[in-house]
Amino acid sequence: MKNIVTLGASSSSTSINKTLAVYAASKLKDVSITVIDLKNYELPLYSVDSEEEFGIPEGALQFNKIIESADGLIISLAEHNGTYTAVFKNLIDWLSRIDIKVWKDLPMLLMSTSPGKQGGGSVMEAAKQGFPFLGGHIVTDFSLPSFYDNFSNDRILNAELATKLIEKIRVFESTMENVVAV
Ligand SMILES: Cc1cc2nc3c(=O)[nH]c(=O)nc-3n(C[C@H](O)[C@H](O)[C@H](O)COP(=O)(O)O)c2cc1C
Repeated sequence: MKNIVTLGASSSSTSINKTLAVYAASKLKDVSITVIDLKNYELPLYSVDSEEEFGIPEGALQFNKIIESADGLIISLAEHNGTYTAVFKNLIDWLSRIDIKVWKDLPMLLMSTSPGKQGGGSVMEAAKQGFPFLGGHIVTDFSLPSFYDNFSNDRILNAELATKLIEKIRVFESTMENVVAV
């Protein structure tokens, strides 16, 4: 059974991105889901000096192992001031010191949401540009605008958006089926 690693790219205990990522994962058929909580990966702030003195934090090594165990990734990006949350960017910086292919070329469903109308459109653009340099294989992407208007009781209320997401999930699923283990 394929293992899908799922996370909201925020350490908020009430993360709407974690909610959205887990919702999308729940629509996949015949997979096991590993949900990562970034609260457990609030690592020391990356600096060259810190790396030289203390090495790579255990949390980054553990996270890297979890990604290595995955067959696919669902990441929903939280947007802080137009870009990644500090905890997520910091984690990426540490991970890139272990392996520049942070995302291991795994099929990725990339998502974002926010309370605003753009649904995290800026951070989505940042990731679409940057992730390919970090071994990111974005199969498809989806931004949910105005989270609190469009998501309630564990479902997307707007029928058009709900259908669009399901279509994207099926594309992600079929890409994973076509990935041959080497
Ligand atoms: C410091 C800070 C900056 C934010 N900047 C943005 C922003 O640039 N664009 C946006 O749509 N929402 C912004 N927000 C609102 C977040 O989208 C909102 O807090 C959302 O819940 C974050 O996702 P999360 O719940 O998964 O952590 C910001 C929130 C904070 C606390």
